[in-house]
Amino acid sequence: MRTYLVTGGAGFIGSNYIHYMFGKYGNDIRIINLDALTYAGNPENLADIEDNANYTFVHADICDADAVRKIFEENDIDRVVHFAAESHVDRSIKDPGVFVRTNVLGTANMLACARYAWERPDGTYPEDKKFLHVSTDEVYGSLPEDGGYFYETTPYAPHSPYSASKAGSDMLVRAYMDTYHFPANITNCSNNYGPYQFPEKLIPLMINNALLGRSLPVYGDGKNVRDWLYVEDHARAIDLVQEKGRLFETYNVGGHNEKQNIEIVKTIIEVLREELPDDDPRRAHINEDLITYVEDRKGHDRRYAIAPDKIKAEIGWEPETMFKEGIRKTIRWYFEHQDWMEHVTSGQYMKYYEEMYS
Ligand code: NAD
Ligand code: DAU
Repeated sequence: MRTYLVTGGAGFIGSNYIHYMFGKYGNDIRIINLDALTYAGNPENLADIEDNANYTFVHADICDADAVRKIFEENDIDRVVHFAAESHVDRSIKDPGVFVRTNVLGTANMLACARYAWERPDGTYPEDKKFLHVSTDEVYGSLPEDGGYFYETTPYAPHSPYSASKAGSDMLVRAYMDTYHFPANITNCSNNYGPYQFPEKLIPLMINNALLGRSLPVYGDGKNVRDWLYVEDHARAIDLVQEKGRLFETYNVGGHNEKQNIEIVKTIIEVLREELPDDDPRRAHINEDLITYVEDRKGHDRRYAIAPDKIKAEIGWEPETMFKEGIRKTIRWYFEHQDWMEHVTSGQYMKYYEEMYS
């Protein structure tokens, strides 16, 4: 039975990935989820599997060498899937230090512990040990509005402290592959959306605000472009890269689904109105009057767009969920899980929201 060590599995993409993996492989795999449970980590995201005998949660920090080493000593880890990170650009602009610590030093520690556990005295590695580093398209910088795509060969040009710290972590993984022949892959993915995303990010923030009748804060002119991918398609890509991809390679993951932010916000309003029952009183306030243009994000990247040619040609991966279907599924999920939203938006979240948007 294969054992996975997943870091950051209580966050948005990590928890969707764990659900996807148990859905696909059932009890043929074991998953150990290592998560520090920062504001973004929520055990409720995995409540339905916490009693599964093949699932173990370890509450620890990826920077803690003793804790990570202990996991490798006590378990024969076959796969590492490294999601854990500080992930929100706006927070990185306010407080870059924690991004350097978690994303750069934390990744350095994960690599060192995996190498220590896996490397043989002659410098080789057992055939089936693999480390996948989950990264982002933001490391490539920003594209002009009128064209171009991010390829695996595009030079790195990060702009925010978040993307700079992710670029640093990618470079460490590359260095391990080049120096130690460390068995790894890197995936660079575009913007994800779907269930369990923390409402500091555009889509869940807009859904939550609209339902509450709060204004919908659009940065700048609202014409920045992101390339949106349904989170389950990302989970499937990660699994396929580990099982079918060539070791030491980077794969870009995205769906050719570019949208301006303002289009996303208008779509959310439209779909919410379609989904609300006729007699729901929230119909009265959910309309485009809620849209408020606010001060732009500092250093705001204009456009991201992934060219997923390599992952398609080599592995056969393509997105399966079209945006129209994915956004409806997502909105329904938040509708049906308003208790989840209430839990994550209590206390600290309101403090963050007031500081960020006041
Ligand atoms: P998230 O913020 O929702 O979750 C991050 C998780 O990591 C949380 O569970 C948190 O508790 C955990 N964590 C943070 N610091 C930790 C530490 N020091 N030790 C252990 N655990 C820690 O993030 P996400 O959106 O799910 O992103 C996951 C990964 O995917 C990140 O590496 C991110 O850079 C990358 N990524 C995200 C997107 C996106 O659109 N969200 C797109 C491409 C790549
Ligand atoms: O591209 C992949 C990246 O996507 C990931 O690496 C990051 O972890 C993830 O957070 C995401 O980064 P973005 O900055 O693109 O996502 P965010 O949801 O914060 O913002 C999406 C766009 O919406 C961006 O252009 C900023 C804008 N925005 C965002 C918020 C929160 C607004 O206009 N208003 C808002 O309130």
